[in-house]
Amino acid sequence: MRSVEWEDGAVKMIDQRALPWKLEYARLHTVEAVAESISNMTVRGAPAIGASAAYGMALAARQSEAITVAAMLVDLRRYGELLNAARPTAVNLAWAVKQLLQVAESGEFNNVDSLREALLLAAQQIADDDVAINRRMGAWGSALIDQGATVLHHCNTGALATVDYGTALGVIRAAHEAGKDFHVLLDETRPRLQGSRLSAWELEQLGVSYDIIPDTAAGYYMGNGEVNVILVGADRVAANGDFANKIGTYQLAILAAAHGIPFYSVAPTSTIDLSLATGADIPIELRDPAEVTTPYGNPIVPAHFKARNPAFDVTPHRYLSGIVTENGIARPPFGETLRRSVAGEQV
Ligand code: MRU
Repeated sequence: MRSVEWEDGAVKMIDQRALPWKLEYARLHTVEAVAESISNMTVRGAPAIGASAAYGMALAARQSEAITVAAMLVDLRRYGELLNAARPTAVNLAWAVKQLLQVAESGEFNNVDSLREALLLAAQQIADDDVAINRRMGAWGSALIDQGATVLHHCNTGALATVDYGTALGVIRAAHEAGKDFHVLLDETRPRLQGSRLSAWELEQLGVSYDIIPDTAAGYYMGNGEVNVILVGADRVAANGDFANKIGTYQLAILAAAHGIPFYSVAPTSTIDLSLATGADIPIELRDPAEVTTPYGNPIVPAHFKARNPAFDVTPHRYLSGIVTENGIARPPFGETLRRSVAGEQV
């Protein structure tokens, strides 16, 4: 099962808003529809929106009526900006658009049909690579989970958040596939509930032992000694190791430090943004306050009550034990180990 793929000239994706109640697919025929599906979180999770944006660029090339490569490039740059604006924090989106534009700008194409074909192949490659990279992260990271351990996990970082397999949840899956017995505490992850709706749905299918906990219970379980390791994903990692992830990650990191619990982020190198020196420069998406007051259309307070809804926070690198990438586990000093990991060296 892939969360996003190309089928019959359209982008097919799991509609993550309908889970865990219904497994429904959206079929998108325009780049505008792909951008909207990223904004409204039909598809979400940094690597999944990266792959969706790549397929969106392939769609854009088909949609463009340009008859010269130069004219198509103008259209593709415009569509790339549309996709980039869909969600600002996860760098995988801009990274994927950039990859596709680099193919288009390579000067290798003398007609629009060959460019269209090449862009689809490049998007397919990004999707295929994502699955392979996740399996490599799983192989590196599974050593972090001991037999009998309890793992705390935040948000959803599984097959749904990627093309398939997952990042932090991929590590959990790899440890399970290696035959280890362990338990997972899933933060429900207010306000969009990616933990209870999506991660629990995935662990149900994998047969991994879990309990959903309220976000507010994380400190309770750390305090009573139940949590052995914390695994989360990342939406953007700065050059010094500061990283943006789902809102609530920062407070988990502080709690982990206070209790001496190892705290790891699991992220492919496409999530590492070496152009940003520190996490202070990462743009944080502010979403509609109605997601807080009226989650999934269910009002929990009167509609006029005020709310705020930052979708991500930034965790300073000093709280991180390591970052699991496809090239190994980067550890402090992150400035050096992340640079080497992005360069393809094993760390
Ligand atoms: O708002 P979301 O659901 O797209 O946020 C997702 C996360 O924060 C994940 O932890 C992150 O994208 C890594 S997923 C492999």
